[in-house]
Amino acid sequence: MAIFHLILGWTAQLFMFLLVLVLIAFLGYCLYLKHIHDKYDHIPGPPRDNFILGHSPSFLKVMSAGGNVHDLFLEWSETYGPVCKINALHYILLLVTCPETTKEVLMSPKYPKDKFLCKRLFSLFSQRFLGNGLITAQDHELWYKQRRIMDPAFSSLYLRGLMGTFNERAEKLMTTLTDYAEKKTEANMRQLVSYVTLDVIAKVAFGVELDLLQNTSLFPKAIETCLKGMVYYVRDSFFEYKPKNRPFINEVREACCLLRSTGAKWINERKTAMKNGEEVPRDILTQIIKSAGKEDSMTKEDEELMLDNFVTFFIAGQETTANQLAFCIMELGRQPDVLEKVKKEVDDVIGMKQEVSYDDLGKLVYLSQVLKETLRLYPTAPGTSRDILEDMVIDGVHIPAGVTLLLSSYTSGRMDKFFKDPLKFDPERFHPDAPKPYYCYYPFALGPRSCLGQNFAQMEAKVVMAKLLQRFDFTLKPGQSFDIMDFGALRPKSGVVCSIKYRDYKNEMGKQ
Ligand code: HEM
Repeated sequence: MAIFHLILGWTAQLFMFLLVLVLIAFLGYCLYLKHIHDKYDHIPGPPRDNFILGHSPSFLKVMSAGGNVHDLFLEWSETYGPVCKINALHYILLLVTCPETTKEVLMSPKYPKDKFLCKRLFSLFSQRFLGNGLITAQDHELWYKQRRIMDPAFSSLYLRGLMGTFNERAEKLMTTLTDYAEKKTEANMRQLVSYVTLDVIAKVAFGVELDLLQNTSLFPKAIETCLKGMVYYVRDSFFEYKPKNRPFINEVREACCLLRSTGAKWINERKTAMKNGEEVPRDILTQIIKSAGKEDSMTKEDEELMLDNFVTFFIAGQETTANQLAFCIMELGRQPDVLEKVKKEVDDVIGMKQEVSYDDLGKLVYLSQVLKETLRLYPTAPGTSRDILEDMVIDGVHIPAGVTLLLSSYTSGRMDKFFKDPLKFDPERFHPDAPKPYYCYYPFALGPRSCLGQNFAQMEAKVVMAKLLQRFDFTLKPGQSFDIMDFGALRPKSGVVCSIKYRDYKNEMGKQ
């Protein structure tokens, strides 16, 4: 009994000791937060929701209501000016819409990518995700080595050679749409174009035929789950500790595993083909294998790096382009004048030809303007972020080092001071003779870390849109929302549901 009392006494003392330790750590953290607040509170910004969580409750409220966090950023930037402070625990994020700072920060390699974000995307809920691949490599040397090796797969000569695949995959979409037109069923255009972009990336990057318009596959759902998981993991530090989220977290881990194990399988098949002296394409997969180093000296980390890049291209090469196409169809469905003009251009350039050639792409000038205007209102990768390691001045405000700048093409693209009547969809803003937007429009980011797949994506988008406009009329299902879903990447919430008809050339000719 005495022993029992002794143990109980020790346990109580230990508990008290731990409680005091936790209390001291908490007070220490609060003092540190106070110091951080004092250091940065001269920078304009909205009032904090909470001393510890800062502005996080505001984001989480928007997210849980299914809203778009970028609209909140836009509202804050409009209210508080070109540099606007946000607190999240001890992190300071600055929303920057000052064009001079955007230029300075994005164009120079001096400002590394945001360490917090890169670390968060390295693994999702402890399952490696984008790792040290091209998008998330923070170390300049490691990134530069990979980018140099990957560049040839995006040279204009190489891209020209992809026109056949772009045409062939877009043609499959046209065949599917023929079915919809004949059966008079409504088409979820976002889903259909996402099958095309996933088919294209699988074929041209990895030499694999998925044919998703005919076959079912686990990949679209896996990509969606990873993206959803990514948003929660980045924006809500406590998400993984809430028991009710366990099932979803397991789903996210499984989705990451599926993508990485598929990568391992396809890489091994390609390596075997290379070893057997078979001729292999000089595609992204070959470059990924080259970027990892020599076969005989390959470390476990080299192997993981190949999978990082596999997942990077699988996701980056598909989701953003699919969403751009879907938003473009959505806006054309709402803007009859723009639709007429772009159809006329397609008729003049492509006529009745089945294949869209590389030279045709350069002649589709108004279609380029439409695609650019789509990315102004709906930059499907809405922004980027950089760490500031030395003090700087933004628009006359002194910024002590140690903050992260959020540079959002969504925010700048919707500000009246940069684009008159910003919510109006007006492709004339991108007329070849119109003044170029000055560091307030950057849907592919800018500078050394800008999108490697920009030309690839815009060639693919033009081929799909040209064929669609050449063959079909589409009408948006009435009553659907035009809202944006914030998935990390931006998507049209409604799915862009359309009824599809063959174009009635006879009637159109009669009207002219
Ligand atoms: C409309 C389509 C696309 C948009 C709007 C877009 C946008 C972007 C943006 C904003 C970034 C910078 C990301 C950041 O700073 O965190 C980026 C990077 C990147 N994108 Fe894209 N992207 C598109 C299509 C593609 C495609 C089709 C590919 C590949 C086939 C691709 C591959 C990449 C890669 C590899 C990077 C990392 C570049 C680096 O850091 O060196 N993207 N993209």
